[in-house]
Amino acid sequence: MIKVSDLVAGYGDNIVLDGVNLDVESHEILVIMGQSGCGKSTLLRHIIGLNRPISGTVEIDGTDITRMDEAGYRAFCRSMGVLFQTGGLFNSMTVGDNVAFPLREHTRLAEPVIEIVVRLKLDQVGLRGVEKQMPSELSGGMRKRAGLARALALDPQTLFLDEPTTGLDPIIAAGIDELILRLHRQYGATMVVVAHDRASCMRIADRIAIFRDSALVEVGTPDEIQSSDNEYVKQLLERRPPEEDGGTSTSSYVSGEATA
Ligand SMILES: Nc1ncnc2c1ncn2[C@@H]1O[C@H](COP(=O)(O)OP(=O)(O)OP(=O)(O)O)[C@@H](O)[C@H]1O
Ligand SMILES: [Mg+2]
Repeated sequence: MIKVSDLVAGYGDNIVLDGVNLDVESHEILVIMGQSGCGKSTLLRHIIGLNRPISGTVEIDGTDITRMDEAGYRAFCRSMGVLFQTGGLFNSMTVGDNVAFPLREHTRLAEPVIEIVVRLKLDQVGLRGVEKQMPSELSGGMRKRAGLARALALDPQTLFLDEPTTGLDPIIAAGIDELILRLHRQYGATMVVVAHDRASCMRIADRIAIFRDSALVEVGTPDEIQSSDNEYVKQLLERRPPEEDGGTSTSSYVSGEATA
């Protein structure tokens, strides 16, 4: 369904992904793990066509995303939901308008219906009575959940979630994991989820892709990943700091929690 081939990506001279090959099958939950700064968010931005590859391709159902015509790309946008790592809400709009945004953009639903859908989606992520508030009035975790509600607005066939539970308290985080699994069961949505928490990854993933620096080091089922012999994979899962080899700085292993 999604096919990433020989993807080289970066910013200016900074190569962030160097020859990544990865397929996402229809209806699977693929979880992406890897140290902070290794390019997980960059990969997502390329898959949804926000950034253009330096070389290589991203195909959605057989079509190169950089070659899609406007109607094709719009149809793709209509069929997918995205939660950006920082929530990605429009700060000048109320929370309700944020969640309503994709509905107004892509459907002809009447306003009263939109209002109901917005309340329903906020309810799904455990937020009530915040429609009239501005994003700046919410806590970080609430903003993240509002972003998730917006990603769910169009009942998407494909969901891209960049750290949906990072920075949330364990109870809310577990609730979001269950929501992800429920959506997957009910609608068979395909999901690409960037995550750090081992328990969460093992719970939700059909397959896990592990990145290190600019490369994909391992892809497999949770069982395969947990029994991996790869030292880096073990280190990542066991939350071990890097060995004192004088070359690797600890900071490169710090998770993205502060950015939630
Ligand atoms: N818009 C940008 N402009 C320039 N460089 C960027 C930009 N976004 C990311 N980078 C750089 O690309 C690299 C990968 O960043 P990316 O956000 O993809 O990492 P990540 O794996 O998602 O990290 P984290 O776990 O902390 O979210 C980093 O070195 C970062 O500084
Ligand atoms: Mg990121």
